[in-house]
Amino acid sequence: MIRIANTLDKKTIRQIYKLHKICLPNDLLPNLNYIHYKAILNKMTNVSNGFFLLSENGPVLTGVLFIQRRYNFITRTVLEHPFLTFFSIIKLSIFNPRKLKEVLALMQPNSVYTNLEKTPEIFMFFIASDIQGEGLGTNMLKKAYTILSANNIRQLKTKTSSETALQFYLRKGFVKIANQKRGDRVFAILVLGL
Ligand SMILES: CC(C)(COP(=O)(O)OP(=O)(O)OC[C@H]1O[C@@H](n2cnc3c(N)ncnc32)[C@H](O)[C@@H]1OP(=O)(O)O)[C@@H](O)C(=O)NCCC(=O)NCCS
Repeated sequence: MIRIANTLDKKTIRQIYKLHKICLPNDLLPNLNYIHYKAILNKMTNVSNGFFLLSENGPVLTGVLFIQRRYNFITRTVLEHPFLTFFSIIKLSIFNPRKLKEVLALMQPNSVYTNLEKTPEIFMFFIASDIQGEGLGTNMLKKAYTILSANNIRQLKTKTSSETALQFYLRKGFVKIANQKRGDRVFAILVLGL
C-alpha cells in the first residue's frame, strides 16, 4: 500500500533511515548519525512544504519518495526577503561566486532558472533492493504525479548521480537538461512536464 505522509512518527523515521542506508549507502544523509537524520527529516516536512509517499507491505517499509515542493532556502530568501537578499549577495560573492551567478539569474523575472527553482523536486527516492525493477518505483511516481497535478503543478525535477537511476528517469519521460558537478560527483538534472 502506498500512503502519503505529511509528518512522520519516530518509528517511521527509523525505518526510512535504515532503508536509505541500504539503498543509497553513498548518499550524504544516511551517513549522518540518526539524531541528525531525524532532525533533517522533520525539517524537510516542516520547512520545505514537501510530502512523503511511503510504500508499506504490512509493517515493512518497501519504498520512500519525498517531493520537496518549495524552492530552496537561498532562493526563498531572494524571492521573499529583499533586505536579506542584499546580505546574501555580498556573502555569496565572497564565498560562492558560482551560486551568486545562479542567484542573479533568479532575480530576472521569468527566467528559465526562476521557473526551475520553483519546480518541486524529487529529493529522496528509493525502493527496497529485493523488489527493485518490479514496478513499485513507477507506481509511486504515478501517485506523486496525481497529487502534484491536483495542485496545479505542471513540472517536476530531480537530480541523480546514479547511472541506473538516470536510465530509470529517462524511461519515465524525464529530460536531462544539465550536469552539475559537486565535489567528485556529477549529477544529471532532469525535468518532466506533467
Ligand atoms: C531507481 C528506483 C527508485 C526505481 O524504482 P523501481 O521500483 O526499481 O523501478 P520500476 O520497477 O518501477 O521501473 C524500472 C524501470 O527500469 C527497468 N528496470 C529493470 N530492472 C531494473 C532495475 N534492477 N533497476 C531499475 N530499473 C530497472 C524496468 O524495465 C522499468 O522500465 P519500464 O517501466 O519502462 O519497463 C529503484 O531502482 C531504486 O531505489 N534504486 C536505488 C536507489 C536510487 O538510485 N534512487 C534514486 C536516487 S535519485
